[in-house]
Amino acid sequence: MKEGIPQFMGVRIRRREDPDLITGRALFVADLQLDDMLHMAVVRSPFAHARIRDIDAQAALAIEGVVAVLTAKDVHPHLRAPLPMVIGPEEYELLRWPKRYPLAEGKVRYVGDPVAVVVAQDPYTAADAVEQVRVDYEPLPAVTDPEAALRDDAPRLYEEWEDNLAHRAVVRGGDVERAFDEAEVTVQLRLINQRLIPNPMEPRAVAARYDADVERLTVWTTTQIPHGVRGALSKALDMPPDRVRVIGPNVGGGFGAKANMYPEEMLVPFLARRLGRPVRWVASRTEDYLATSHGRDQISEIALAADAEGRVLGLKLRLIADLGAHYFRVTPYPSVHTIHMICGPYRIRNVHAEALGVFTNKVPTEPYRGAGRPEAIYLIERAMDALADELGLDPAEVRRRNYIPPDAFPYTTPTGLTYDSGDYARALEQALERIDYAAWREEQARRRREGGKLLGIGIASYIEICGFGPWETGSVTVEPDGSVTVRAGSMPNGQGHITTWSQIAAEVLQVPLEQVTVKLGDTAEVPRGIGTFGSRSTPVAGSAVMVNAQTVRDKALQIAAHLLEAAPPDVVLRDGAFHVRGVPQARVTWEEVARAAYAGELPEGMEPGLSSEERFKPPGETYPFGTHVCVVEIDPDTGAIAILRYLTVDDCGRVINPMIVEGQIHGGAAQGIGQALYEGAVYDEAGNLLTGSLMDYALPKASQLPSFETHRTETPTPLNPLGAKGVGEAATIGSTPTVVNAVVDALSHLGVRHLDMPLTPQRIWQVLHERQ
Ligand code: CDP
Repeated sequence: MKEGIPQFMGVRIRRREDPDLITGRALFVADLQLDDMLHMAVVRSPFAHARIRDIDAQAALAIEGVVAVLTAKDVHPHLRAPLPMVIGPEEYELLRWPKRYPLAEGKVRYVGDPVAVVVAQDPYTAADAVEQVRVDYEPLPAVTDPEAALRDDAPRLYEEWEDNLAHRAVVRGGDVERAFDEAEVTVQLRLINQRLIPNPMEPRAVAARYDADVERLTVWTTTQIPHGVRGALSKALDMPPDRVRVIGPNVGGGFGAKANMYPEEMLVPFLARRLGRPVRWVASRTEDYLATSHGRDQISEIALAADAEGRVLGLKLRLIADLGAHYFRVTPYPSVHTIHMICGPYRIRNVHAEALGVFTNKVPTEPYRGAGRPEAIYLIERAMDALADELGLDPAEVRRRNYIPPDAFPYTTPTGLTYDSGDYARALEQALERIDYAAWREEQARRRREGGKLLGIGIASYIEICGFGPWETGSVTVEPDGSVTVRAGSMPNGQGHITTWSQIAAEVLQVPLEQVTVKLGDTAEVPRGIGTFGSRSTPVAGSAVMVNAQTVRDKALQIAAHLLEAAPPDVVLRDGAFHVRGVPQARVTWEEVARAAYAGELPEGMEPGLSSEERFKPPGETYPFGTHVCVVEIDPDTGAIAILRYLTVDDCGRVINPMIVEGQIHGGAAQGIGQALYEGAVYDEAGNLLTGSLMDYALPKASQLPSFETHRTETPTPLNPLGAKGVGEAATIGSTPTVVNAVVDALSHLGVRHLDMPLTPQRIWQVLHERQ
């Protein structure tokens, strides 16, 4: 720290939002008490595929306290737009979009598909009435396996199309056939990224109030994208955007699953306006599992062609993404990200990668922490290990031989991405040294000679794509009393944006952190924004805060110079006040400068006020990276896996708050390990979700997770003034292949080449049993 210049960026500052969160003062949607509020409950399909013959609401309506029962025909004619979908890049060779309104019409296509809504005086009556809505279903054959769904004889979800194909996207570069012809070795793997269920601590909830006298709608929702919800509601309900206020109060986790526009987010506001009373819906955990998007669910065939030294010459990928029954907002994206990201940190010049999206009778998928990148990195990192195994090389050495070198940036992949900056080998070498890789390899060799628990070492090098544009807001205002207000379009759901944006503003303006107020998550306070997804917040919203704070500071320096009757270059900002260089007694405070700014005591020609609202438009995406390494031990008697060490070297460019970054790494790694070892959504053939509650869906518990050793390198990005890359998804991407690579490594001397996730003790025990 320079004297008189307090430092806020790069410092482990405790989160300003935590006192309210941990003392129960923070308001969530389910805490709202709106006068005269009604409660919505949803009638959901018990069948994975069925025709709706009739819906009889008489018995439900007869229950005291039930106010209304509505079906598609009561709601949809009054909506001006369907649920939105963001149509993506031009790589689609085919994209079929079944337009969706909030309730099922004619057919249901998954267990949980919303069929009708009940509104009642209290949530208990609403839940009872749901049981009394008689829906006459004609069950149809269902299909839950995406490969089966592609067969000619598969039941069709949409009769208007000849098959269940939803989209086809292809990326290609170089000459992949030639690369395979010329290769010394090839390896091929069939890999499954199983379906996962996002488990934010807070299930979804929506509340709405319509004020008829002023024709204004206020909506509280568990969202990552309040402005997106406002846009969709304004279209569907035919209201000007400035009459729709969307508030994400505190949101308890999202992981991508709350960056959507769900049926309930349209139904609750619709009902509030129609019934003239506030309405709320709160999901239970089980309802959330059926009503909120799932993640991953891809089956992939990947092949690598390499020379005799293990340099990869070509890569082929064909993946089938099980999208579930229809699209939510960006359902095709993860599979398209996967094919784009498939080269990982490696210089692979010849690629052909194809993604097929398939409709099945399951809950629709959407981005889930990482959204296509964890899938891609899992594929390439498993394939790199397979290649090392084929050639008898150390997995670290194969990676070293293939990394894009640090002097090659900006680097364009054959899949059309431009990586901004990176030093992949540095992260690998640091990780290996810190964990003492050579010693663990020796220990592994010793145990293989002498017996004992099986030992495996896993490595994965990942990259991420983040910082998506086209823009984000992060305005900065110095108020007339000298306090600072930041308004950002990002919407945190646990990432500590209030603390982080305060740090950036306080650093640039040299004011105490407490002097900064951050407003976000409310479209009335922040008129424009895009939202939080894809680890975009720090590189994009954070950069907007930085640039706007700099503009405000520069203007303040000029005003201060004017007040001090000095030349602007002679004025410096120190100790929270403006001084004439070398004359410490000649000073004005922020408050005095702000007062002058609003009172108009300004240099000639300067506009009054002290505010800047430029949007930050990133010139491209930025690519965080890192290497994770772990050591696992397997008990041959039980198949139980213990993670002995888990070490990460992550690089998200310049770090604003190292403590929050570590927290993101811990959480991300926990989720990635969850996929590797525990989690998976299981459907039966009839399309029932068997893992329908936390009793059956195996989230990792704290006691099942290792103590994480987190380290960093810092390679700034040239694409934003902070030099920052995102970190929210990074460890989710790195951890899954690291753990699977370690477990397969532990079993490799028995001839095991691959095992599908989740790697349960039962699966390991079976393998050991078969091989010994
Ligand atoms: O919130 P989201 O996942 O979109 O974005 P992120 O940019 O990955 O940031 C998550 C949190 O990590 C931020 O609130 C920052 O506190 C922290 N972070 C940081 O301090 N420095 C970085 N270079 C990246 C993130």
